[in-house]
Amino acid sequence: MSNLVIVGMQWGDEGKGKIVDLLASSADAVVRFQGGHNAGHTLVINKKTFKLSLLPSGIVRQKLSIIGNGVVLDPIHLEKEIREITNQGIDINFSNFVISSDCFVILPIHRYIDSLRENQKKGSNKIGTTGRGIGPAYEDKVSRRGIRFSDFKNIEELEEKFISIYNHHNIWIKKFEGKEISYENDFEKILKCYHNLSKYIDDTWLLLKQLNDKNKKILFEGAQGFYLDIDHGTYPYVTSSNTVAANAFTGSGASPNYLKKMLGITKAYTTRVGNGPFPTEENNDVGEKLGKIGNEFGTVTGRKRRCGWLDIVMLKKAITVSGINGLVLTKLDVLDTFTDIKICTSYKIDNQIFEDYPSSMSSQQHIIPIYETLKGWKEKTKGITNFKNLPLNAQNFVNRIQSLVNCNIDIISTGPERNENIIINEVFN
Ligand code: GDP
Ligand code: IMO
Ligand code: MG
Repeated sequence: MSNLVIVGMQWGDEGKGKIVDLLASSADAVVRFQGGHNAGHTLVINKKTFKLSLLPSGIVRQKLSIIGNGVVLDPIHLEKEIREITNQGIDINFSNFVISSDCFVILPIHRYIDSLRENQKKGSNKIGTTGRGIGPAYEDKVSRRGIRFSDFKNIEELEEKFISIYNHHNIWIKKFEGKEISYENDFEKILKCYHNLSKYIDDTWLLLKQLNDKNKKILFEGAQGFYLDIDHGTYPYVTSSNTVAANAFTGSGASPNYLKKMLGITKAYTTRVGNGPFPTEENNDVGEKLGKIGNEFGTVTGRKRRCGWLDIVMLKKAITVSGINGLVLTKLDVLDTFTDIKICTSYKIDNQIFEDYPSSMSSQQHIIPIYETLKGWKEKTKGITNFKNLPLNAQNFVNRIQSLVNCNIDIISTGPERNENIIINEVFN
């Protein structure tokens, strides 16, 4: 049993897609288990860029790619993404791509509600969602109104379900917009997509059992990051799914017994896209510089990402709650030109020192970060593949993080390309 879960340790965009692609070379299957096309994963392979939102990042290596039941899936978007990736020369067919029949469907009305709600909120009350209908689709799932792919087997009952979802939301939409959304067009559109996608739909929990029984290697690919988790994140400025490693089981139907390695991905600094607290944010020249060198613009919405220093307090909670037993440190090269590099080691809130992340939003909004300052290396690390070839101050930076969080850094990423990595420990062989 050498299956692996990969999850983000921050607010997403840690470089998960790149690392999943790297490690997928050793995998027999790659599984998405939560989120939807709010995710944006960029892979750079021999200067060619692949942008994935719903398709598991293993698809680029033509590995068996599975979308688990925990994902909310927009069929219109998926068809488009399949077309785009196919046009880039990747063969997607029913033997290398499978969607769970228990997967919930994002309908056009979910996207509409997502934008409408955000537009109604003012200033800092806006979550800053990706506007892709993720929250409303998960709400319908939890309210037991949602539509799953297995529901498409009975078209009459499916139409009834559509009608009841649209009726439910139209009460509110009519109040604010003065008009209703009719279900008929959307029903036809989604039905057409289903017919095109039906060849991929299957019982994926069973497929995972069969793979595990044959000792096949399964890689579970998280989307978003720990602090966007609906339970453990900076609520309400979060996404609507659990992004912690434990959701790899619930969101796919895989047994917890399948797993032993949980790999957490963290940038060498921190970014966030959307609103909400960000203790180490550098809303100044430092943040601008990190963003410019790191090319910190959202893959999905193109929004500028907020940038700041690495936060050890946050990292420690993410490691504990997700049971992380190995880290990947990405984007080390982005720090190459900084004279001083800061790491936040504790917080001051109302004149008290905290070593652990506080749960209340009001505390989170009043954090004063306490920093340790390390000397920068002012040398190029981009593309380095051997730890000993890193400048001494870069080695010190990596070692200091390891000792502060008490967890191994197994891989360091030194550039966006597939082969720009320092492999310290083999994590998946
Ligand atoms: P994900 O959502 O976690 O998969 O991350 P994204 O793909 O949204 O954002 C990470 C961005 O950083 C992408 O554009 C990657 O190509 C890029 N990237 C990943 N690792 C590195 C690295 O080590 N150095 C640099 N400079 N860029 C990286
Ligand atoms: P990847 O997988 C970064 C953020 C949004 C917003 C909040 C809620 O690429 O790391 P949602 O549309 O999910 O209801 O938005 O979550 N968000 C992400 N931020 N990376 C992501 O995914 C994200 N997915 C959602 O910006 O703040
Ligand atoms: Mg991303």
